Formats: sequence, structure tokens, C-alpha cells
Amino acid sequence: MKVADLTAGQQTAMLADRYSQRAQAYDGLWSPVIRPIGERLIARLPLTADTSHVIDVGTGAGSLLPAIQLAAPSAVVVGIDRSQGMLRLAKERHSCPLALMDVQRLALPANRFEVAIVAFVLFHLPWPEQCLAEVNRVLQPGGSVGTVTWGSETEPPASAIWDDELQAAGARVIQLPAVDNRDCCDSTQKMTTLLEQAGFVSINVWTESIEHRWRPEDHFDYQLRMSSRLRLQSLDVQDRESCINRVRDRLFGADRAQYVYRGEVFMATAVKADHSARKH
Ligand SMILES: C[S@@+](CC[C@H](N)C(=O)[O-])C[C@H]1O[C@@H](n2cnc3c(N)ncnc32)[C@H](O)[C@@H]1O
Repeated sequence: MKVADLTAGQQTAMLADRYSQRAQAYDGLWSPVIRPIGERLIARLPLTADTSHVIDVGTGAGSLLPAIQLAAPSAVVVGIDRSQGMLRLAKERHSCPLALMDVQRLALPANRFEVAIVAFVLFHLPWPEQCLAEVNRVLQPGGSVGTVTWGSETEPPASAIWDDELQAAGARVIQLPAVDNRDCCDSTQKMTTLLEQAGFVSINVWTESIEHRWRPEDHFDYQLRMSSRLRLQSLDVQDRESCINRVRDRLFGADRAQYVYRGEVFMATAVKADHSARKH
């Protein structure tokens, strides 16, 4: 079945399943790369000792929950995600309420939360505008949202060697549904429009840079277990082994410059309009 033939619900379910299958690898290898960015966003949100209800939308394995709880020590912090596997990891470590839910349809009451965090989630969604409308609904009037989405990325040269060898081995390029809807939110203007349309005001969008110097063994593991996993699986066992060995040979003795990843993210904060405040 082609991606275009899948319903949005099927795409969402497939993505959740993909996250579940890679949950351990994501948590151990990729989460440490992006967590500092999420933590910088949290530092820009109005989380205080008086904050009582916070929601982490698309919490994954809950990597941002400790920073949220530190910034709002009395708050009930609720984490929701659509991936069972990611939530299972979150539940092993965190005692806060965690629930399986689609961020495009929150089974939560309106006007409940003071702050919502939506970190590295919107670009996965068939309907990002629906997610932000839902976040707006569950926030109290005057409540704040913070988002992070991807801009441009420069993969480490070592990743190109994987691509090269996979292609030479005849690995299939697997188009994944709804994984890469980056177009929706990869500029200041797009984020501003999305947030405005969802009913937010006082919108502030800015960019930040991210640089990660992979340890060679972690980068190898990351390719094996996450980035190149599906393409490797499309090869038969022998071809797969040969492909991995060729990559290993080509990367043997590669210097650290081969492992530098750089990216740009769009960060945004905004406030749910408080219409009652205007009337008085
Ligand atoms: C890149 S991870 C980010 C996790 C976490 N926010 C962080 O910053 O580490 C994206 C998360 O969004 C979740 N997700 C994607 N689509 C979703 C949906 N429709 N409903 C709920 N969660 C979703 C995935 O399961 C995954 O855990």
C-alpha cells in the first residue's frame, strides 16, 4: 500500500508502532542529542513553584519530565504519547500520570493546564493544526505553550557512508508515513501562522543551533538500530552483513570531524488568548 493511500489514522498508528520498536535505541542514543534543546525551551516557559498543572504533549520516554518537574515542583505533570513502547519506558522511571493518547485528539478536559510543552512532535503529524487547537483547548485562558520543530540539518559525513553502502547493496528506500511533515513548521512564518490559527497570541518564534559530536561507536549503533534499520532489514542476511562490514571498513580510523552533526530548530512560545480578561 502506498503512503498516499493510508488514512491519517493509519499513518499515526504506523508511526507510533515505529517509535515503539525503536524506543530503547531512541532513548539511549537520540534523546541525549535533543534533550538539551527541550530543556532550553522549558527554561523560557512560565513554570514556577505555583504552577499546578502542566502537560508534556508527545512526551515519548519522558526525557523532559525531570526538567519540567524541577521548574514546577508542585505541579501535576501529565505526559501523553501515542506510542506504547515509549510510554512503557517513561512509566519505568516516572511516577507522574502518563497516558496513551493521540495529540490530535486529547481526551482531557478544557481549560485545565497552565503550561503545555510540544517538543519535537508537530512535524510528525498529519494534522499539526489540530494538535495545536487541542493544546489551546486544554490550556487555561492565559496559559502558555512552548514548541520545538526542526529547521535544517547537516548529517555527519559518516552517515553518508552508510547511505552510500546501503544504496550499493540495493537496500530499499522506505518511505515512512507522517514521519517527515517538516514542511508544516520549518520557518518562523509557518510557526507563527499555525499558532495564530489555533488561537494563540503573544507569539515569539526564534531559532537555535544544535551541534552534536557523536562518539563513533554510538553513531554506528544509532545507524544500526535507528536511522538505517529499515533499509538494512530490506536486505537478506548475507547482504546485510556484508554491507555493515563495508561500512565498518570505510569508517575505520575516521577522524572526529566525520561525526559532527549540526542542526537548526525553531522554538516558539505563545499564550492562549484570555477573552474574559478583555471584557472586564
Ligand atoms: C521525537 S519524539 C519527542 C519526544 C519528547 N517530546 C522529547 O522531546 O524527547 C516524538 C514523540 O511524539 C510521539 N507522537 C508522534 N505522533 C503522535 C501522535 N499523533 N500522538 C501522540 N504522540 C505522538 C511519538 O510517539 C514520539 O514519542
